[in-house]
Amino acid sequence: MKKYTYISVSTDPILSYQDIVEYAKSLQGLTDFLHCDVMDGKFVPKTTFDYNLIKTINANCLLPLDVHLMVSEPRDDIKKYIEAGANIITVHYEAFEDKNKLVETIKYIKDHNVLAGISLKPETSFKEIKPYCYDVDVVLVMSVTPGASGQKFGNYAYPKIKEIDAFRKENQLNFKIEVDGGVNTENAKLLTNLGVDILVSGSCVYKASNREEVINSLRG
Ligand code: DX5
Ligand code: ZN
Repeated sequence: MKKYTYISVSTDPILSYQDIVEYAKSLQGLTDFLHCDVMDGKFVPKTTFDYNLIKTINANCLLPLDVHLMVSEPRDDIKKYIEAGANIITVHYEAFEDKNKLVETIKYIKDHNVLAGISLKPETSFKEIKPYCYDVDVVLVMSVTPGASGQKFGNYAYPKIKEIDAFRKENQLNFKIEVDGGVNTENAKLLTNLGVDILVSGSCVYKASNREEVINSLRG
C-alpha cells in the first residue's frame, strides 16, 4: 500500500485572528491538519496567539489541529491547549532545561488522549533528543529557524530525517516524522521518500492561486 502523506497547513502567514479562522474554514476537506504556530515573543521573537484562538478555530471548523508550541514555558498552558481541542501538541526539546519535565509533559499530553510531539531546532542534533523519542507520537524536524514562514528550506534537515527514520525502523517505533519550514512542491517528494509522514506548509499553500492543487501536489 502506498504510504499516505499528511499535509498540515500553517497559520503563520496570516496576521489577523479572524482571517486565521476564515482560512481554516476554507481549508476544510483539503488539508489533513491545520498547523497552529503558537509563538510567545520569548522562545522566538514573534508573538502570535494562544489557546483562546485554538478554541475558536476548533468551534468553527472540522480540521484536526496540529499545535506547534514555540514557547519558552510550554508546561504553563498545556492543560488549556488540551481543553481547547488540540489534536497534536508539539513541544520544543530546547524549551526544557530540566528534561524530566519534558518527559512529564509528554506523558501528561498522552494521558489526556492527545497526540504528543517533540520538536528540534536546526542546531539541535537528533542524537540529543533520541532518548525522548520512544514515547512520542510525532517528531517534528525544523528545517528553518523557528519564528517565521517564508524561509528557505535548510538542507541540513535531509540527513537528520534519514537518521530519524533509521532510528524509528531499528526500534520498531510508530511515531510520525513531520517537517516544518520551507516545504514546497519541489522538495516534498524527496522528503516523503526519506520517511516524512507530515509536511507542514505555510507560504507555499498560502500564496498559491489554487490551494487545492498545491496541497494535492505536496501530498504526491
Ligand atoms: C516557522 C513555523 C512554520 C512556518 C512554515 O517558525 O513553525 O510552521 O509557518 O512556513 P513556510 O512553509 O512558509 O516555511
Ligand atoms: Zn510550525
